[in-house]
Amino acid sequence: MIQVNQSGAKYSAIVGIGEKLKQLEQSTGQKYLRLNRGIPSVCTIDLSEIIPLIDFNSAELQNYPPNSGLNTLHQAINAHYFNHKTKVENIFITAGGMNALDLIFRTLKTTKVWLPEFFWGAYANVLTINKIEFAFYSTYDVLFQKEFSEGETVLIGDPNNPLGNKYDDQLLLQIVDKLDHRNVNIVWDSPYRKLFYENDYFYEKLLSYPHVIIADSFSKSLGLSGQRIGFVHSLDNAFNIEFNTNLLYVTNGVNAFGQILVEKLLTTPEGQKAAFEFRAKTRIDMIKNIEYLKNKGLLAEEFYQDSEPIGIFTVVNMSEDELLKHHIGSVGLYYFTKNSKALASKYSRLCISVPHQELKSYFDLM
Ligand SMILES: Cc1ncc(COP(=O)(O)O)c(C=O)c1O
Repeated sequence: MIQVNQSGAKYSAIVGIGEKLKQLEQSTGQKYLRLNRGIPSVCTIDLSEIIPLIDFNSAELQNYPPNSGLNTLHQAINAHYFNHKTKVENIFITAGGMNALDLIFRTLKTTKVWLPEFFWGAYANVLTINKIEFAFYSTYDVLFQKEFSEGETVLIGDPNNPLGNKYDDQLLLQIVDKLDHRNVNIVWDSPYRKLFYENDYFYEKLLSYPHVIIADSFSKSLGLSGQRIGFVHSLDNAFNIEFNTNLLYVTNGVNAFGQILVEKLLTTPEGQKAAFEFRAKTRIDMIKNIEYLKNKGLLAEEFYQDSEPIGIFTVVNMSEDELLKHHIGSVGLYYFTKNSKALASKYSRLCISVPHQELKSYFDLM
């Protein structure tokens, strides 16, 4: 028998929900609305005008890309996310956001990572694999008040997965300011943000804070989760040197086609139009869906007292089992918390980034 190195990380339980829905469809012959997923699914991004712009016979596409990513993509990210204000050497292309986070935690020397009370389960698993201790903060007020020890890290994601809520940017910057001045590392993981805003240069503001490490991804803002392209940004030279080495031995360079595709979407008029239309259509239906759930009294308003529900997820005051009776797939909120499982058991996370008419047709029957 082969001896296995057991990290203690768990395979995603959410994947099991999708499999259960498939079985139910087969056994009942009825359709289920899949709001359990985590991708923008109002529409796909229309790439038909972008593909002709790509030279599939080029060495750039066919050969190994540079370890930290294609320079053209670095420049596009610098322009679109940082308003040209960072150095391209601070940007590293990764195989999506998950890979970005894993490499960050491989590289960062930290005693403890503070996660939000309601958190994306992968954080805990990636930290477990990297043998890093973690704990939870319940509110941003707690972060303001807290005394941190040397070498601790706080993870911030906004809009949050699973709550789909957005805090005021000024408040977020005040928190970052406070943490940075106390020498606390901040891992900024907000891959949903760019779906909601056009011409958004929030990251330019984060450049004032040397303890911030940004992880981002094109899985959500361009709907390209299949391409596995993301990036990491840090201002710290020592971190960047070690990160680059870890990136080499984990990836040996990230898919060149995916990088070229993303670069064309960020820089060409055809690409920018396709990306804008994808996001605009997605936003219209998300707004309608949240409004609809609110009017039906299903939105769990208690989670949105000092923040705005914007998507792509929304928490409703029905359990996963209750929703399933109405042929709606969701993920129980208790999957996303360690400390508040009892409270969370009566709520579910819905992915409301689906066509409005489709969502309405299921909920109208309640
Ligand atoms: C909060 C958060 N961060 C990061 C990611 C990583 O996305 P990906 O690995 O597809 O780029 C996800 C994906 O669901 C997420 O929800």
